[in-house]
Amino acid sequence: MPVDSAAREILAWYDANARSMPWRHRPGAPGRADSYRVWLSEIMLQQTTVAMATPYFEAFTARWPTVEALAAAEDAEVMSAWAGLGYYARARNLLAGARAVAARGGFPDSEAALRELPGVGPYTAAAVAAIAFDRRAVVVDGNVERVMSRLFAVETPLPAAKPELRARADALTPDDRPGDYAQAVMDLGATICTPRSPACGRCPWQGRCAAYAAGNPERYPLKSPKAARPTRYGTAWWIETEGHVLLVTRPAKGLLGGMVALPTSEFSLERAVVAAPVAATWSRVPEPVRHAFTHFDLVLEVAKAILTVRPDLEGAWQSVSEISRAGLPTLFKRAAEAATMPRLL
Ligand code: ADE
Repeated sequence: MPVDSAAREILAWYDANARSMPWRHRPGAPGRADSYRVWLSEIMLQQTTVAMATPYFEAFTARWPTVEALAAAEDAEVMSAWAGLGYYARARNLLAGARAVAARGGFPDSEAALRELPGVGPYTAAAVAAIAFDRRAVVVDGNVERVMSRLFAVETPLPAAKPELRARADALTPDDRPGDYAQAVMDLGATICTPRSPACGRCPWQGRCAAYAAGNPERYPLKSPKAARPTRYGTAWWIETEGHVLLVTRPAKGLLGGMVALPTSEFSLERAVVAAPVAATWSRVPEPVRHAFTHFDLVLEVAKAILTVRPDLEGAWQSVSEISRAGLPTLFKRAAEAATMPRLL
């Protein structure tokens, strides 16, 4: 396949159809996108949609307009601003990354040096090198994998197909405008070459696409059957006195590390009877909160006790009426809603 014409076709499509995003530099406009904004957006977009990440991006850049400002922020402020985006290790890495960048006096402009930053893996290093610094880099995310698998009708299932899909992406990546090219393929995957019902009629690569020619683009990418995800069980305790509820900060390492939370049991593979943190008359919220983490599904029982005397427990007492300001991650926001929901009967 003539590389240059394939890139030219998708760049022309991108020039006319690029999605507008607050961190993006308009294709063809002079100058380049701001490296801090590109890096921040790429970390937020790992495992999160553009629609979900955008309000967080706006809030972060309003509050911390530069990487130096973010580097100087308190850990707890950043964790709480991240609440709701999930995958909290990203927020911890974000801060570590900002501090490393501030300490070295700015972002490095090569893919290899970007890789050295905390929280920056192969995808993010390539994306920032290409988008912020216009370096040729092979940017491969799930969208790009899907586009390549269809373009070349790759019969190997994912994840075994990854090296082949990467090699295909590499062969197509141009020297000219690599940042726009990377974003063009990602936009194509997000808006045209979608997992279901792809809009092949509007695709600039329709004429080159082996899956389209075979009449079955949705068949690709093939996927190996997934191992079943285990279910874990746990209990969260809502301990309330005088309109205040006990919140704790989870240990820095591990699930929801560093986040504000209700006290919980361990999350175990069996339903277990667990000792509550304080002797009280406990009632159980009727429906447990169910939440999908990457490696397991959680069924979280919420137990509630209202005490007249504040017990001597580690943590901070948060006003229940202002709980929405506590920076709780989604799991505990939902547990708090369950615990404060008026009973119908
Ligand atoms: N997904 C991750 N980064 C993106 C970007 N810059 N443009 C489109 N989709 C993306």
